[in-house]
Amino acid sequence: MGKLIIDLIDIKEDVNLEKAQSVLDIFMKEMAKFSAGLKVLNAKIDILNDEFQRTYQYNPIEHIKSRIKTPKSAIAKLIRRNLSIESLDSYYSLTDIAGMRIVCSFIDDIYLLADIIKKQSDLEILEIKDYIKNPKKSGYRSLHLILNVPVYFTNQISKVKIELQIRTVAMDFWASLEHKLHYKNENANYEELLNELRVCSEHVNQMDIEMAILNRKINK
Ligand code: GTP
Ligand code: MG
Repeated sequence: MGKLIIDLIDIKEDVNLEKAQSVLDIFMKEMAKFSAGLKVLNAKIDILNDEFQRTYQYNPIEHIKSRIKTPKSAIAKLIRRNLSIESLDSYYSLTDIAGMRIVCSFIDDIYLLADIIKKQSDLEILEIKDYIKNPKKSGYRSLHLILNVPVYFTNQISKVKIELQIRTVAMDFWASLEHKLHYKNENANYEELLNELRVCSEHVNQMDIEMAILNRKINK
């Protein structure tokens, strides 16, 4: 028995629950595609990392994490965006059903990896959001690539959308703390803490820049 839509949403009169349930059932079956897509991308990144290690005795990647959005969180996002939960297309319009995060030591590594990924002709780049050159108001920094990754199954090729976030260790450190604040947003000093985080984001950026300069000098 799969997940029941009724357990995942607050009951709304304007939703055809039977239809929403059948769409959810189809989507849950399709989830296997997303996890296959992450495996393909993971293998590609692994190969690059190994090659860097062999050629330059250097590892541009600190660590990689990936995740598939839970049905509950996908439905919550559809509702937040006023998209119909009775349509499979709504689910497919989300760009972050499958997500991968690559954490690098240096800003230079982020753009190096992104350039290598851009050159892989089987990967289609649907969108690039450079929150390093243009940080968010919150102070969030990261490079986001929305990719279409081809996966070969027994009798079909599926293109799987994956949101790839590439950031430095320092940006990652910042983002986890900021995420924690949102998660606990009942905090009385919420606005003040947001401001402090914005200041911290500047420090993070300054450190990332100085570390990149030092790294270049050391590598000379
Ligand atoms: P979401 O609805 O949050 O997915 O935003 P979006 O579809 O407009 O895409 P965007 O590129 O803004 O954000 C995608 C993801 O980046 C989020 O799910 C987070 O993982 C991360 N992110 C974006 N903005 C912030 C931020 O201000 N703080 C933190 N901690 N993470 C962020
Ligand atoms: Mg998201």
